This record gives sequence, structure tokens and C-alpha cells, in this order.
Amino acid sequence: MFKERYAKISGWGKYVPEHVITNKDLEKMVDTSDEWITQRTGIKERRIRGENDTNSSMAVAASLPALEMAGLTAVDLDLIIVCTSSPDYLLPPVSSQVQDMLGANCGAFQLTAGCSGWVYGLATATSFIKSGMYNNILVVGSEIISFAIDYTDRQTCVLFGDAAAAVVLKPSEEPSGVLSFELGSDGSEYDALHVYDGGSTNPVSAITYEQGRHYIHMDGRRVFKFASRVVAQSLKRTIADAGLFPDDIDLYIPHQANARIVDAGARLMRQPLEKFYMNIHKYGNTSTASVPLAMVEALEEGRLKEGDKVAMIAFGAGLTWATVVVQLGVGEISPAHSLFSTGRAQYVAKRARETVLDGVQAALLPLYTFIERIRDN
Ligand code: COA
Repeated sequence: MFKERYAKISGWGKYVPEHVITNKDLEKMVDTSDEWITQRTGIKERRIRGENDTNSSMAVAASLPALEMAGLTAVDLDLIIVCTSSPDYLLPPVSSQVQDMLGANCGAFQLTAGCSGWVYGLATATSFIKSGMYNNILVVGSEIISFAIDYTDRQTCVLFGDAAAAVVLKPSEEPSGVLSFELGSDGSEYDALHVYDGGSTNPVSAITYEQGRHYIHMDGRRVFKFASRVVAQSLKRTIADAGLFPDDIDLYIPHQANARIVDAGARLMRQPLEKFYMNIHKYGNTSTASVPLAMVEALEEGRLKEGDKVAMIAFGAGLTWATVVVQLGVGEISPAHSLFSTGRAQYVAKRARETVLDGVQAALLPLYTFIERIRDN
């Protein structure tokens, strides 16, 4: 009998750089104050990458404890998704570096959807597992967003910080993992949060540096308005899609962009603010690492337990947003069982057939070349 597959969050980990920049530190750099930043954003300090931190090294540091907790090693992974807007290089995708550094032997891709990236990644990974295509998937949010921050621009430099967080998903037969999701995009607002140069439209030039066009430019008020609206609307829709009511959610984990956006969201949802997890005071906005980092810390602090229902929402450049309703814990399918699920068995058989055919073709290649040479002569 067909049994529905779920994608259980089976392991998690985080990495935050050691170097702290406080609001007091920023007072020395731009015309701002601890009071203004605290009141307008809720942020007290943020972490900035150390000399040895790269996007890939941070992603790996967050992934290793996640794999260990899930009882897996890197070779057990079927797919790696690294979500980021600040990869080590424009090419290659940082996901391949992470795959190599972990010693995994599977597909890997980089996913970019602004600060919503990791939630997009979680929904994508869930779909692969639910379809029976893959069993074990690593989803990482890793961000060194400070590289694109102008530390003379008081509007942006107070907001952002660096961090990484990761989860491992495994198949389960019990309702767990992502129960419903919504992925959203409104590209008409692309210029509200924008890096003008460094892409193919405006490659980097001397003018880029002169005019600071390689930094993040933000229309804070526009993003604020968008976010305040979309948070409650998308949460309500996604919770309803899971067959639940806002009161059924044990903990809300919002993108840590601005405490006032969270206040507005809680009010519109008619939910107590205490149900909205916040660690913005410690890290600021860590872009796509923000939601998984908050989730990991909520778990570490015992704010979440097996069976709890969690609603997570992120928003950011694009403008994009992404929302998931997740149930924690419960049940796992043994690898042998999932291996012989129909979809997976067909997939394994197809891969084996292709491998054999590839091998035969490779072996025959010198013979073809030899025959063609004889023909040409
Ligand atoms: N310190 C002191 N003053 C500052 C400041 C800072 N760090 N940043 C801006 N200001 C000033 C402005 O220049 C403005 O001064 P003016 O009235 O003399 O022109 C004043 O504060 C009010 O600016 P405003 O933009 O209306 O402030 P705000 O209350 O909207 O707060 C943000 C600004 C950026 C904190 C807020 O708009 C925000 O959080 N937006 C969303 C940003 C976001 O989430 N981005 C990431 C999405 S992933």
C-alpha cells in the first residue's frame, strides 16, 4: 500500500563568526547611535567574518554537526543545496566546494533567492524527498553578506551580519517536516534591494568602486512596507494550507530583519509576540542564514520539542518571500525501506542501466575511432 513520505528535519547545526561588532562600535564609524539602532531595529550586535571564514568554510562548519545529529556521514547524502547571495566566487557555485570539502558524492547546487533562499531550499529538498527521488538532503544557508556592505552607509551597515546554519532532511512516514509552503516573488520591486554592478548587465569597472555600486543599496521604507504586509498574509495562507489555524502554531520563526516588522506581523496575526522567536539582538539580519539560525537556537534553548508545529517566514531581495509550516520530529523510514519504494527503485535501476551503458560506450570508443580512421583513409 502506498504510504506518504515526509521529509523529517533530522539534524541541525550553526556557525557564527567570533568577531562581534556592537552598536557602540558602529557609533564610531557612522552618524548613528545605539539608541536609534535598538529602537528602530531591535539589533544590539552582529557577527562579522574572521580572516579564515569563507562562505564555504562556514557552510561546512554548520553542516558537520547537522550530519552527525542525523546519524549520517557525507557519503550518505543524495543532494546538497547551499542557499546564499554571497558565494566564495561568482563561479563555481559554492555548493560544489561544500560537496568536496564534506567528502560527499552527490549532486549539489547553489540556490539564490535573497534572504528567502533557505526557506526556498527547504521546500525544494522536501519535494525531492516526498517524490521518492532522494532520501538524505543537506540544506545550508550560508552568508558573508558583510562583503557587500558599505560601512559608510548608516542605513544598511547597522542591519546586516554573517552566519551559517544547516539542516539534514531524512524520509519519514509520520507527518513531519514541511507540511505546507508558499514561495513568492515580486520582481517589479527589484530595485528596492539591489547591487547595481558585478553582474552581466554592469560588469565591475573603475566607476563601480568610485561610486560604491558594488554595495547593497536599499530603499528601507519600501522594503519595510512590503515585509510588514507580506509576513501576516503569507503566514495565514500557508497555515491554512496545512489545515491549521494560527493558534495551532507553537512557535513562529520570522526572518530577523527588523523587530518592528515582527511586531506588525504578530499584531496582524492576532498572536502574542512571545510566540515569535527573536535572536535579532545578537546577530542582526544574516540574510538567508537568518531563519535556520533562529530555528537552531530555538531548538538549542528548548523552545521547541518533538511534535511542535512551527511557521517560518523569510523575505528579501527580489523582492521574494517564502513561508513553511513544519512539524518537528516523529518517525523515520529505514534506509532499506525507502530504497525499495517504487520511485526510488525505478530511479536506482535507471541509474544502474545508464552506468553500464556509459561503461560499454566508453570501452568501445577507441574501436569507433579506429574504424573511422580506417574509413577516412
Ligand atoms: N542611524 C541614525 N539615523 C538613521 C539611520 C541610522 N543607522 N538610518 C537612517 N537614519 C535616519 C534617516 O536618514 C532618516 O533621517 P531624516 O528623517 O533626517 O531623513 C531617519 O533616520 C528616518 O529614516 P527612515 O528610513 O524613515 O527610518 P525607518 O524607521 O524606516 O528605519 C530602516 C530605517 C532601514 C531600519 C527600516 O526602514 C527597515 O528596517 N527597513 C527594512 C529593511 C530590511 O528589512 N532590509 C532587509 C530585507 S531582507
